[in-house]
Amino acid sequence: MVNGCGGGFINLRCRTSVRSKLDYNRGMFHAPDLVHRLAGLRLAHPIYLYQQIGSTNDQARQLAEAGAPEGLLMVAEEQTAGRGRSGRVWLTPPGTALAFSLVLRPALPAALSARLTMLAGLATCEALEQAADVKAALKWPNDVLINGRKTAGILIETALSGEQLNYAVLGIGLNVSWSPAPHEVEFPATCVQAEAGREVDRLTLLRALLARLEAWYPALADEALFTAWRARLTMLNQPVELRSEAGVVAGRAVDVAPDGALIVQTDSGETRRVLAGEVHLRARSASAN
Ligand code: BTN
Repeated sequence: MVNGCGGGFINLRCRTSVRSKLDYNRGMFHAPDLVHRLAGLRLAHPIYLYQQIGSTNDQARQLAEAGAPEGLLMVAEEQTAGRGRSGRVWLTPPGTALAFSLVLRPALPAALSARLTMLAGLATCEALEQAADVKAALKWPNDVLINGRKTAGILIETALSGEQLNYAVLGIGLNVSWSPAPHEVEFPATCVQAEAGREVDRLTLLRALLARLEAWYPALADEALFTAWRARLTMLNQPVELRSEAGVVAGRAVDVAPDGALIVQTDSGETRRVLAGEVHLRARSASAN
């Protein structure tokens, strides 16, 4: 049974015997296909599909607070109040992207919560290579780039229980057939299809991404995950700018630490350790050095 509630909500925990209007929209997710293609994945159960929602992260957080199990996947065709990092807006026009949130309950110290960012970034890069044949890289801390342009963003939100994580909501927005105009973003943006030069099936991409998340998930606290994430960072050993409310600091990104911090050697000779959320990172041309 498909529940066609307000906003086009379909609870895919139910067996599908009636197709919603959404199912017949060409290019949109077809609910039975979604169930079929994601079958067997532990981190895609239960599945919620929305035709339109404010933010999948908001909705997944509400369900996580109410005790939703690890693996709950919330997928939306369109978000009307999608959120990015640092309070930014994340645009998801209908049927053009992957916009989803996953509830996780990892046994992880709060101090290592950046590992979830590494997990999501790495899995997204690997899925893009597998399903779209494009080379993907990461801009610290959690932007996914193809040919130097942002294609996906990651929003991890956590709730703590003492020093440990109680739950995390791992949200990914991946532009597949549309990207925001230059005036809408601070960093150049692109979409998968523009870079792949061909149509890319969103469901194939979603399946690949969830499978890579699931493959890396047991290694969340391991050196191997950190090493693979680090190897994909674009700005290491390059001149960068750290922008924050306190101003702009110029330096060179020298490394990252296993907890996700960026290590920067400033032009004034200081070594700084910065955490995601504290600064915005920008490349500087070498000649500005
Ligand atoms: C960023 O680059 O600033 C992060 C963007 C994260 C967007 C995704 S789309 C699915 C999930 N729901 C949201 O409201 N945000 C995340």
